[in-house]
Amino acid sequence: MPPRPSNLIAIYPGSFDPVTNGHLDLIARGSKLVDRLIVAVLRNRAKDPLFSVAERLELIREVARDYSNVEVAAFDGLLADFAAAHGATMILRGIRAISDYEMEWQMALMNRRLQPGIETVFLTASEEYSFISAKLVKEVASLGGSVTGVVPAIVEERLKQRFALTGARK
Ligand code: PNS
Repeated sequence: MPPRPSNLIAIYPGSFDPVTNGHLDLIARGSKLVDRLIVAVLRNRAKDPLFSVAERLELIREVARDYSNVEVAAFDGLLADFAAAHGATMILRGIRAISDYEMEWQMALMNRRLQPGIETVFLTASEEYSFISAKLVKEVASLGGSVTGVVPAIVEERLKQRFALTGARK
């Protein structure tokens, strides 16, 4: 059996549009399990994001600034390639409910096929955050509802500004 890497690097990938308290909870718990945790924001031109990649990186850096072993980066292309290029041996994902499982299972198996040396590790979301999704956060904020306690305060402020400026419905 190969030895456990002395510098255990994990990637926590996602869209993070925007980062929620559910994501932050996973960052906090994941950062305790590894030496370096790289939060990786997907540059996905196919989606129509509310926040630019630069804004999402800035917000994650701000809310995760207390975790000294957490870094934030953007990525293009295959997650498995990005993880391998960074020497990661773990992909971290959160599972909120059983409905998340099927997609996560498919991605985990595909990523393992692409990079057999990288394991996907699932953490269950904390119960107080297990209902949160970035999609729902954007919908509620766009319609003037409160997202206090669901996203970090700086994200709440940005959402208010964004919807006050554009009046856009996402
Ligand atoms: O926050 P999300 O939208 O659930 O994150 C999905 C993400 C970014 C993890 C997934 O779409 C992804 O890894 N995309 C990169 C492209 C890729 O590697 N696709 C094959 C996945 S098996």
